[in-house]
Amino acid sequence: MSKTIALSLAAVLLASVSGAGIAQSLKDEPIQPIEPAKVTNPGLVELGKKLYFDPRLSKSGFISCNSCHNLSMGGTDNLKTSIGDHWQKGPINAPTVLNSSMNLAQFWDGRAADLKAQAGGPIANPGEMAFTHELAVSVLQSIPGYVAEFKAVFGSDTVDIDQVTKAIAAFEETLVTPNSRFDKWLKGDKTALTAAEAEGYALFKDSGCVACHNGPAVGGNSFQKMGVVEPYTASSPAEGRVAVTKDEADRFNFKVPTLRNVELTYPYFHDGEAATLKQAVNTMGRIQLGKSFSDDENAKIVAFLKTLTGEQPSFPIPILPPSSDTTPRPTP
Ligand code: HEM
Ligand code: HEM
Repeated sequence: MSKTIALSLAAVLLASVSGAGIAQSLKDEPIQPIEPAKVTNPGLVELGKKLYFDPRLSKSGFISCNSCHNLSMGGTDNLKTSIGDHWQKGPINAPTVLNSSMNLAQFWDGRAADLKAQAGGPIANPGEMAFTHELAVSVLQSIPGYVAEFKAVFGSDTVDIDQVTKAIAAFEETLVTPNSRFDKWLKGDKTALTAAEAEGYALFKDSGCVACHNGPAVGGNSFQKMGVVEPYTASSPAEGRVAVTKDEADRFNFKVPTLRNVELTYPYFHDGEAATLKQAVNTMGRIQLGKSFSDDENAKIVAFLKTLTGEQPSFPIPILPPSSDTTPRPTP
């Protein structure tokens, strides 16, 4: 090969992996990489982190956000349905909090517009933390360490629920998981996936999964019918989006879950009935697309899905300020 040809080949290769080349090739993909969170108010995030881990926001003094959205386990509890106050079994599977800031709305039926609106829910939910906002605030107000931290962050002497939910939401916005092997592959490192995983991605695209699972979160951006081609019999009483819109057309429409970190967030579906990814992929193929995958195809799609596991949020566990003599004690 002549030197000029070799050089121009190198230029073409370089162009295809340089900024413009990547930007163009990413535009052609139904899935985009996720970027690390940008923290603009570190004090607010640190406060939210403490609140997220604080079980004193529950009636029993035993249940925190992290009980059901365990950050050591993909932001979930890995249970079919969660266990709340007094060992109550909830009606629905707990979705991951990881990358939840990318959701078009929060909850399976989208009844909360954003993370801040969502965060007040579980504290006062009798089946979850079973507290009231007034009691939660009075607990925080009785803890000098918190009073000082709320003052430093919000500049006021009193704590209110609006500040609590703002801080928790700010912490949750940092729970993104960039740099998965799939993201590295998308950004041009073609060695980041094995041949089987890349074939799995091709199957995921060509079979039509990307019609619903797309964008940076590989889902989370639309409500869709569970059971498009074939009806799904759920073990949960949840009705889906119709509960919010009262429009019968939305019956059994659920928010399409993000598939980021899906390897960690078992069991699957809003009723938690699919124990494994193999089962979830089989069911999706059959009831959403009318396809039955061979064992080999299924294994490749599952292998691809496991490349969506990103860098998990990692930090020293927050040390919570101690209760004072006047802090209301937990009630059984
Ligand atoms: C849903 C955060 C406490 C169980 C969610 C969602 C978020 C979240 C962001 C929506 C995710 C999505 O739709 O993709 C929090 C925070 C908590 C908290 C910040 C503390 C204040 C709990 C606790 C439990 C729990 C203690 C279990 C007892 C659930 C369940 C859902 C959910 C079952 C789904 C409910 C539905 O869609 O109807 N949570 N959570 N959460 N969380 Fe929590
Ligand atoms: C749920 C994969 C096609 C809409 C899921 C889950 C997986 C998955 C693994 C469970 C996630 C979790 O619970 O955390 C796939 C694959 C597909 C596919 C591999 C292609 C074979 C589709 C299509 C649609 C769709 C085409 C829309 C028409 C949904 C919805 C859920 C879901 C709404 C939640 C259902 C519920 O729990 O009620 N998908 N999906 N999926 N997917 Fe898909």
